[in-house]
Amino acid sequence: MPAKVVVIGSLNMDLVTRAPRLPRGGETLIGQSFSTIPGGKGANQAVAAARLGAQVSMVGCVGSDAYGQQLREGLLAEGIDCQAVGVVDGSSGVALIVVDDNSQNAIVIVAGANGALSPDVLDNADAVLQGADVIICQLEVPDITVGHALKRARELGKIVILNPAPASHALPAEWYAWIDYLVPNESEAAVLSGVAVDSLQTAAAAATQLMSAGVGKVIVTLGAQGLMFANGASCEHFPAPQVKALDTTAAGDTFVGGFAAALAAGKNEVEAIRFGQVAAALSVTRAGAQPSIPTLQEVQAFTS
Ligand code: RIB
Repeated sequence: MPAKVVVIGSLNMDLVTRAPRLPRGGETLIGQSFSTIPGGKGANQAVAAARLGAQVSMVGCVGSDAYGQQLREGLLAEGIDCQAVGVVDGSSGVALIVVDDNSQNAIVIVAGANGALSPDVLDNADAVLQGADVIICQLEVPDITVGHALKRARELGKIVILNPAPASHALPAEWYAWIDYLVPNESEAAVLSGVAVDSLQTAAAAATQLMSAGVGKVIVTLGAQGLMFANGASCEHFPAPQVKALDTTAAGDTFVGGFAAALAAGKNEVEAIRFGQVAAALSVTRAGAQPSIPTLQEVQAFTS
């Protein structure tokens, strides 16, 4: 039986337009295409972990609309256990995404049903958490629930990963001791640490600063520049595999899900980092969030 990853977080329907560039304030641009694609950082990480070899359970909420049904069915089709994905009255979470010709994106999310993932809902899913080897959280559901989840995951002795995305403010100080791996991107690392991250040196400084807050280890993802891994003894740069990027949406989610799946399967941290990096690199060569996430066989073929 594969090891078990439990993802606590968001499910969104992504409303994606491609345009030559991102619009400026007050500007109307003519777009090139529009697609409706399953996403949400939590669901993307669940799909990544499942495609990359883990047994996965999702804990979250969708709305009573058509999007909610599609999002839930999409996860079930990946073999993801959705017994703890509740359906609440109202709209599912959505993300409005523009992707430009340089493969960069801009995203606005509206929480919808993700806002209903309360500590009580989590308590009702405690048996699911108990069965986990690795538990992953992000920040697209209420902070009070994330804190509750991290604390419970630590009590249960699980490997705890927080992808602090999106980051709009400092994390509550008590959270840090509950986290084994904090995985921000450069802008999230800057918000959390107060260090402007614009180079490998400043990424290392931000990671060191976050380590001093009490987190186990820090991985600052840096897009095409790879990532910076801080483990308390040193900061190590891992360059990214070089690929031609089409769409970077969900690259970070693919890294987190792949990293978690590899850890759950018993790989060491360095192996898990490299595995997650290959998965993320493959994801940016394809469009969309969940459709872009590679399978275990594709990652193995890339590395062999
Ligand atoms: O990380 C990418 C995801 O961010 C998208 O799928 C979108 O739903 C937003 O949550």
